[in-house]
Amino acid sequence: MYIGIDLGTSSVKILLMAKDGRIVDEVTQEYPVYYPKSNWAEQNPEDWWQGTIKALKELIDKNQEIKTEIKGIGFSGQMHGMVALDASGEVLTPAIIWCDQRTAEECNEITNHFGQEKLSELVGNKALTGFTAPKILWLKKHYPETYEKVAMYLLPKDYINYRLSGDYATDYSDASGMLLLDVKNKSYSKPVLDFIGITEKQLPKLHESYEVTGKLSDKIKKELGLVQDVIIVGGAGDQAAGAIGTGTVSEGVVSVTLGTSGVVFAAHDHYKVDVQNRLHAFCHASGRYHSMGVMLSAASSLKWWTDQVAVADIDIVLDEMDDEITDIVFLPYLMGERTPYADPNARGTFVGMDMNTGRKEMTKAILEGVSFGLKDSLDILKDMKIPVDEIRVIGGGAKSIKWRQILADIFGHKIVGINTNQGGALGAAILAAVGDQAYANVDEATKTIIKTVDAIEPNMNKHAVYQEKHKKYQSLYGYLKPYFDNVEQGI
Ligand code: XUL
Repeated sequence: MYIGIDLGTSSVKILLMAKDGRIVDEVTQEYPVYYPKSNWAEQNPEDWWQGTIKALKELIDKNQEIKTEIKGIGFSGQMHGMVALDASGEVLTPAIIWCDQRTAEECNEITNHFGQEKLSELVGNKALTGFTAPKILWLKKHYPETYEKVAMYLLPKDYINYRLSGDYATDYSDASGMLLLDVKNKSYSKPVLDFIGITEKQLPKLHESYEVTGKLSDKIKKELGLVQDVIIVGGAGDQAAGAIGTGTVSEGVVSVTLGTSGVVFAAHDHYKVDVQNRLHAFCHASGRYHSMGVMLSAASSLKWWTDQVAVADIDIVLDEMDDEITDIVFLPYLMGERTPYADPNARGTFVGMDMNTGRKEMTKAILEGVSFGLKDSLDILKDMKIPVDEIRVIGGGAKSIKWRQILADIFGHKIVGINTNQGGALGAAILAAVGDQAYANVDEATKTIIKTVDAIEPNMNKHAVYQEKHKKYQSLYGYLKPYFDNVEQGI
């Protein structure tokens, strides 16, 4: 049996998987996100730990018979967060997490120092507010005394690994999102570390996602009532782990996640980077590489609509929607946008309403707008000549057949589902199974465990209409950009 720990933003999910991929049980524990100032997002690493240990105990309590059968643990984690520890392993500050936007200034400093081309050569990516390196620079500038005390910077899931094993370890996929990793050569980038003002000693040891980084400490084994050795593997950033959980490992397979955020993820055999760095170029949990576009508000746009405006149940709102393509365009930039604009100031917008516009048209516009945002990333993949042979769709939003059809129509491409919607937690458990040598490698494990289901064909007549509407959608950002910038300046 293998345990996948998915340390998300709102909760930790712990999944128990049998060697053949069967999901035996799962347990979830929630914890808060703190927003102490506009654009800030923080969490308390102790909350993550308390949630994790509680969930682990609950899982084992519920499944006493498997106590002796647990062999390995893997992780999937919210990426980019900064956890700062002192020399005795105590947390020094709240964790600044992935959706925090306070570091625009630090991102400019990094980019101006290296120049975009050189930065891309060093770390494969551009400096984005969510990433870890600008957060460290921010800490140095605003809390120099704390910065001086930091002995170790960890990513969120790696803090849980540390609490379970006592080891400081990370994996290449998650480390790719720190802006400190030479992604192509899989080593920390000395020039970037020097500029930020840290040394390699302050960073966790790098591993492949399926590599054993240590084992469960005696103290935790005792707490959980386990006697045998339990290996721990590096695990992966949530998107790479999610891609393992959808079997998105070989060239040509692309996964699309309609979760809180929206992600287009393409697996590669070799390192690839966009000359304009429009997509993230990261290591994959398979041991190879991937490209990824991330929209910040995907299914959360629909949740915003149903919670704040329509004030109705999501199912009711989706049910009343008809087949018509609307004239209304919705820009889903409710939290700014990452791909393709990297613009924390962008905002959500509806354009084109008239007296006949009602709730159902606006709901449809939201589903279309989010799908257009994902199409932007898909088009960049095609622009980079990355093959897109099969598109696998997952995430909460993908439960709606109507939304899946809109996606297929907008993409002009067949889309498929998969036999499980467990994403990162399953990917994490699979990585643990590979680390335990239950499978020869990640490819063999995913081929055995993950199957595609529910193919949806695109309606190519609608696709033609949507192609035109997508152009309108894209032009709107350009028109509104000066307005977004002024809004941020309070004008
Ligand atoms: C990936 C990303 C998100 C977060 C939170 O770049 O920012 O996937 O990891 O889920």
